Amino acid sequence: MKLISIFATCLAVAGTACAYNATGPVTYLGSQSKLLSGGATAQGLVYTSGTTPSFNGSIVEGGIKNQTAQIIKNIEVVLEEAGTSLANILKCTVFLADIEDYAAMNEVYQKMLPYPKPARTALQVAKLPGDFLVEIEAIAAIPYY
Ligand SMILES: *[C@@H]1O[C@H](CO)[C@@H](O)[C@H](O)[C@H]1NC(C)=O
Ligand SMILES: *[C@@H]1O[C@H](CO)[C@@H](O)[C@H](O)[C@H]1NC(C)=O
Ligand SMILES: *[C@@H]1O[C@H](CO)[C@@H](O)[C@H](O)[C@H]1NC(C)=O
Repeated sequence: MKLISIFATCLAVAGTACAYNATGPVTYLGSQSKLLSGGATAQGLVYTSGTTPSFNGSIVEGGIKNQTAQIIKNIEVVLEEAGTSLANILKCTVFLADIEDYAAMNEVYQKMLPYPKPARTALQVAKLPGDFLVEIEAIAAIPYY
């Protein structure tokens, strides 16, 4: 009886491991620019890197709204590579070079992220690591397959 139940547990654990078999770096944007990793997945979750408003290795022009839109598109491709989508984001953190850009960032963010909105933190940071106005990171659930 005891042996059988241990065996059943092992099968259950193996089954879980298969359901969550999307573990490792997500590198899609590496084809656009020399990113170390667009994100990392483990246990049914994907954590994106702090995603910048880059397209094909260059920061896009057009101010905070265009930069926010480009970031969300970049996050979307990372999430899609990980087997999920914007709809499954649990949490976003938005880093702004200038908190005065909050309303304009929010206008684009509200339009692009599906309802229900993920939890979010938004803050102004003293400096971002490049010549851009905003950086966003996301944590998303990867649905079972
Ligand atoms: C799990 O990942 C490994 C390594 O990438 C792969 O060989 C295997 O086919 C995957 N299994 C499933 C069920 O997706
Ligand atoms: C991206 O950059 C590469 C190399 O500079 C270029 O060959 C390619 O056409 C660019 N892609 C797009 C979509 O602009
Ligand atoms: C906005 O960004 C896109 C790339 O996502 C770029 O093609 C376009 O020129 C930018 N718009 C402006 C007004 O700079």
